Amino acid sequence: MTLLITGGTGTLGRPTVDALRAAGVEPRILSRRPGSAHAIADLQSGVGLPEALAGVETVLHLATNRRSDARATQRLLQAARAAGVQHLVYLSIVGVDAVPLGYYRAKLACEHLVAESGVPFTILRATQFHDFVGGFFSAQRRLPRLITLDVPFQPISTAAVAERLVSLVTAAPVHGRVDDLGGPEVLPMAELARQWVRARGASTEAAERRVVEWHLPGALAAAYRAGLHTTGQPGPGIRFADWAATRDGQ
Ligand SMILES: NC(=O)c1ccc[n+]([C@@H]2O[C@H](COP(=O)([O-])OP(=O)(O)OC[C@H]3O[C@@H](n4cnc5c(N)ncnc54)[C@H](OP(=O)(O)O)[C@@H]3O)[C@@H](O)[C@H]2O)c1
Repeated sequence: MTLLITGGTGTLGRPTVDALRAAGVEPRILSRRPGSAHAIADLQSGVGLPEALAGVETVLHLATNRRSDARATQRLLQAARAAGVQHLVYLSIVGVDAVPLGYYRAKLACEHLVAESGVPFTILRATQFHDFVGGFFSAQRRLPRLITLDVPFQPISTAAVAERLVSLVTAAPVHGRVDDLGGPEVLPMAELARQWVRARGASTEAAERRVVEWHLPGALAAAYRAGLHTTGQPGPGIRFADWAATRDGQ
């Protein structure tokens, strides 16, 4: 199979490239930057897309810039249709149709573009990556207090998402969404923060003192508090606490 992956240099893309290779699929990696196995192209301008897609049967679309994903996805779909791509797998986020966040509206618009493109497709929605949740905490690592919100998260390892994506790109298109994918447990953000602090060597008491939980008003916080970004059932992969223990120095 000739497979092109967008976003293959990103947080999820790197382990996904590794998982594809482990499954015997050598991907072509669409990137704006030169590198091994890279096809240089820019999804915003469209430059390089026809060359990147030449001879491609399957596209795994992970790229994002968190601002203009609909435009990038539209360009990719037009080029994929012209190139005769037989299957496009798109990664979205759990709750994009329920949580009133601008980025989620853009991801939902991308889902619609994919569904209406005429290219055979499969859409997977995943919950937040461990890296994303851990990023909130590491950004505050030099502060005396670690601020959290009174919302739950169901973080998942990128390895688990990558494994699911490999199974989807090697199967037939479903012309719709497959079951949402979330991590193994739903926990309050404050508990995840305490786990992150403890993984850095703090005692249980010190972690308790360091983490502060805020309550935000408004529809966005209410949607997160209601867990509209979680799947309602435990999923695969390592737990956040075990992932945090492997992230020395972050
Ligand atoms: N973060 C989460 O918790 C989470 C949860 C669920 C789903 N997702 C989804 O997972 C996907 C991957 O997220 P991530 O956090 O791994 O992303 P990321 O680390 O921010 O990586 C972004 C990727 O997009 C590529 N990209 C950006 N603009 C581009 C352009 N104009 N042309 C070509 N490539 C471009 C970059 O490639 P180059 O820089 O090499 O060009 C890079 O590989 C996204 O679709 C995201 O919505 C994320």
